[in-house]
Amino acid sequence: MEIAADIAEEVGTEIMRLRTEGVDVAATKSSLTDVVTESDRLAENLIFERLRASRPNDAILGEEGTRYPGTTEITWVIDPIDGTVNYLYDLVAYCVSIAACVNDETAYSDGKRAVAAAVFNPKTNELFKASTGNGAFLNGDPLSVSKETVLAKALIGTGFGYTAERRLEQHRILGKVIARVRDIRRIGTAAYDLCLVASGRLDGYFEKGIKPWDWAAGALIATEAGALTLGQKEDDPAGEDFFIAGPPIIAHELQALLAQ
Ligand code: IPD
Repeated sequence: MEIAADIAEEVGTEIMRLRTEGVDVAATKSSLTDVVTESDRLAENLIFERLRASRPNDAILGEEGTRYPGTTEITWVIDPIDGTVNYLYDLVAYCVSIAACVNDETAYSDGKRAVAAAVFNPKTNELFKASTGNGAFLNGDPLSVSKETVLAKALIGTGFGYTAERRLEQHRILGKVIARVRDIRRIGTAAYDLCLVASGRLDGYFEKGIKPWDWAAGALIATEAGALTLGQKEDDPAGEDFFIAGPPIIAHELQALLAQ
């Protein structure tokens, strides 16, 4: 956890500094709106170097293409900038997300589960971290999820993917949810959304189509703060198909609504 936290802080501070020098789109991925900046690449390389120096035998999987095979049971799942579009526009919600994961077929849809993790938002100077069984922390203070139990009073975070097809589907689902909750927030970084659930600043979160690097660290931080993570239907694991997180009652109510 401390390795993840130190690297996330260093890299977050560096990408924020780079942002002051200006930023350009370096490439696009799944669609014209799915952008990569030079900072995403530099940040992923820096995380890679730092992890190789302190954990040379572990595997590393990164959003921007790093696939490094290891010989231990640990895979580091990293998102160098979660919230790249916010970064591009200099909006305050973007973060570095780093998780040390073990194999666990029952946990999430990718068959991995974080055992130690950190998420750092350099613009707000918030460092979230957690390790299995030891709770979750924000800048050293323990976190716990919201006490809300009524979905109609819950503030729910969500996000949208980058392809038109995915967004139309998300729009259809959102249409069902928005009438049943206090309100919806689209903050722009799934890792941070999950940390806000951990902090009780969102009562719940759901999204279709997020990737392991979006959820790996945030999911551990949320669950260590008392959240439950669920898939769309009762026996589905949370993951790419559907990711629901929240205090247990809200998570189950959201699942029941989304299962429809
Ligand atoms: C995105 C953010 C966003 C979520 C998208 C993700 P990126 O990650 O987490 O909030 O809605 O599904 O792809 O592209 O900024 O790393």
